[in-house]
Amino acid sequence: MRYDFKNLYICEYNILLVIKQISEMKEFKRHLVTAALPYANGPVHIGHLAGVYIPADIYVRYLRMNGEDVLFVCGSDEHGVPITIKAKKEGCTPQDIVNRYHEIIKQSFADFGIEFSNYSRTSLPLHHKVSSDFFKTLYQKGEFVEQESEQYFDAKANQFLADRYITGTCPKCGSDGAYGDQCEKCGSSLSPLELINPVSSITGEKPVLKKTKHWYLPLDKHEQFLKEWILDGHTEWKSNVYGQCKSWIDGGLQPRAVSRDLDWGVPVPVDGAEGKVLYVWFDAPIGYITSTQECTDNWEQYWKSKDCKLVHFIGKDNIVFHCIVFPAMLKAHGDYILPENVPANEFLNLENDKISTSRNWAVWLHEYLVDFKDQQDTLRYVLTANAPETKDNDFTWKDFQARNNNELVAILGNFVNRVVVLTHKYCNGVVPSKQNDLPIDIAVLEEISVAQQLASQHIESYKFREALKDVMQLARAGNKYLTETEPWKLIKTDEQRVADILHNCLQITANLGIIIEPFLPNTAQAIQAMFGMSKCTWQQAGNKQILASGITVGEPALLFRKIEDAEIDLQVEKLHKTKQIMNIQQIQATPQKPLIQYDDFAAMDIRVGTVKAAERVPKTDKLMKLTIDTGIDVRTVVSGIAHCFSPEEVVGKQVSILVNLQPRMLKNIESQGMILMAQNADGKLEFVSPISTVENGSTIC
Ligand code: MF3
Ligand code: ZN
Repeated sequence: MRYDFKNLYICEYNILLVIKQISEMKEFKRHLVTAALPYANGPVHIGHLAGVYIPADIYVRYLRMNGEDVLFVCGSDEHGVPITIKAKKEGCTPQDIVNRYHEIIKQSFADFGIEFSNYSRTSLPLHHKVSSDFFKTLYQKGEFVEQESEQYFDAKANQFLADRYITGTCPKCGSDGAYGDQCEKCGSSLSPLELINPVSSITGEKPVLKKTKHWYLPLDKHEQFLKEWILDGHTEWKSNVYGQCKSWIDGGLQPRAVSRDLDWGVPVPVDGAEGKVLYVWFDAPIGYITSTQECTDNWEQYWKSKDCKLVHFIGKDNIVFHCIVFPAMLKAHGDYILPENVPANEFLNLENDKISTSRNWAVWLHEYLVDFKDQQDTLRYVLTANAPETKDNDFTWKDFQARNNNELVAILGNFVNRVVVLTHKYCNGVVPSKQNDLPIDIAVLEEISVAQQLASQHIESYKFREALKDVMQLARAGNKYLTETEPWKLIKTDEQRVADILHNCLQITANLGIIIEPFLPNTAQAIQAMFGMSKCTWQQAGNKQILASGITVGEPALLFRKIEDAEIDLQVEKLHKTKQIMNIQQIQATPQKPLIQYDDFAAMDIRVGTVKAAERVPKTDKLMKLTIDTGIDVRTVVSGIAHCFSPEEVVGKQVSILVNLQPRMLKNIESQGMILMAQNADGKLEFVSPISTVENGSTIC
């Protein structure tokens, strides 16, 4: 007997992969997967889906298909200042606002097949109790620091003012309209007490200073633990997540206030805390616990047992809360497990611009479905194939059309359709039996288990784009096989060969119907329905004999339809139109300042320089220390950008710098100049940089 070593090798390799897979998964008896609770102050858009909910849903569907015990929890985040501001603007209650958006958001998730075990909301009495009890436990254990400070109070409105509710003149640059936490003109981070002529934006009155007490979570006390747990213990986390954690921890952690003077939220459950609520970022992540409690009495098995693997899916702006603050809370409590992983995605842009709710620059899910009825899977596909897994990515309608037409229609849809149509034409709509395998057959059938196994590995390591590619590769291979074997030519001469080819193609199609399920659930269902397959497990895929000969194949279903240019033009037009309307409605630019003489301008020496090094200034939220090569010299500038950029993002950038500004001390560092920043309507910062690289020291004139 002769051994075919090549195939033996492939088989052994496959077996090894499977063993590895099983052992990794079986380390845990249960899985708890969470997806960030969206704020209930607006509907959800494609950025939400791409960043958090689709990857989480793929992961969960995969676990469920593997027969794992998994809970997938989420809910609406219904507290926080923006919701109260919106309610005031619209003359209704915050509860009215969140009731409206909770329903819309919940419906969108259901429409796109995001299969939560439970979708809760944080205004529920149960959540108030759970988060209140959590606070009490920490309080009784002495895990908080209580501190009194003076804060602005609006006597007319009879309330303390959140930083964003106070405006005034910036002490740094003198421009009006600076907020209590930041001047959007010069980028300085401020405290409300620094503002000149502060005014309450609720009543327009001058606020008064009043003493108030708050509770702080001393993150500094948990620094050592966080360092060991994340920096030493979780080097496998995605580099964007690990990098942010490292930069926060290296910068030195400070106590964080976990209460606010506000009347919307979970009341602080201690005596003498009237008019105070838990800070929204304290209660929201506890919403994961509430949501779990709501769906099972066994909730402790998921939260308090080392057998359970906890994974948080979030966007990058949530990293510090999920990797540092919430774990510190859980650790301080003592009973809870910590996340095993926090696969955060970067941001999705839309047509080369940041997605923005306030500027209506977004593709809203409920609106998408009006124009692309029953085409949920197309959007799921595009957002997965183009997911911002390692860097910010751009969604364009042209790319959406191209991926639909060239990939879903031309590759997956086309293959399945050809196979089913040919089966009806040549084999009476029945899976034919096979007699011989030629080398080309063996090779294509091998692709089935390769796709299944590679996809497993990629899903388990949170690389969903790659996993989707693995699945599509099987469809590509199928198409190529059909084109090369040309059954339509052979039918006149060799019916058995045609039967063999279609038999193989049908096995591939049925397997595609299984392994595409985590990504495109409706498509999977349509394929499975054609073969009368019932709910399949992930392990059933990878099998070259999944369909028995003799099974009747249903009528060919059209899986995807071509999207025409006109439809895409319409979407682009719609996007720009609504943006224009929004711009007219809210003219946000501040009035022009008084005229100056040319000499005033010429006195400013603005140069282009390159950032050589950057680090956060310890014990501050926004300051970053930059080392800049100005072409004249290398100097230090302290800039209020650390809330928008990480040091790694900044190093290497060319920036504009005002070099002849009188140096000043910021946190004991001499800042020798000022970086020019542009600020958009959402308060996001961007560098003012030359479009292409110029020599350092070039003047801006
Ligand atoms: N509402 C937050 C956001 O959209 C996310 C909250 S996640 C939770 O950015 F953990 F706090 F729930
Ligand atoms: Zn300023």
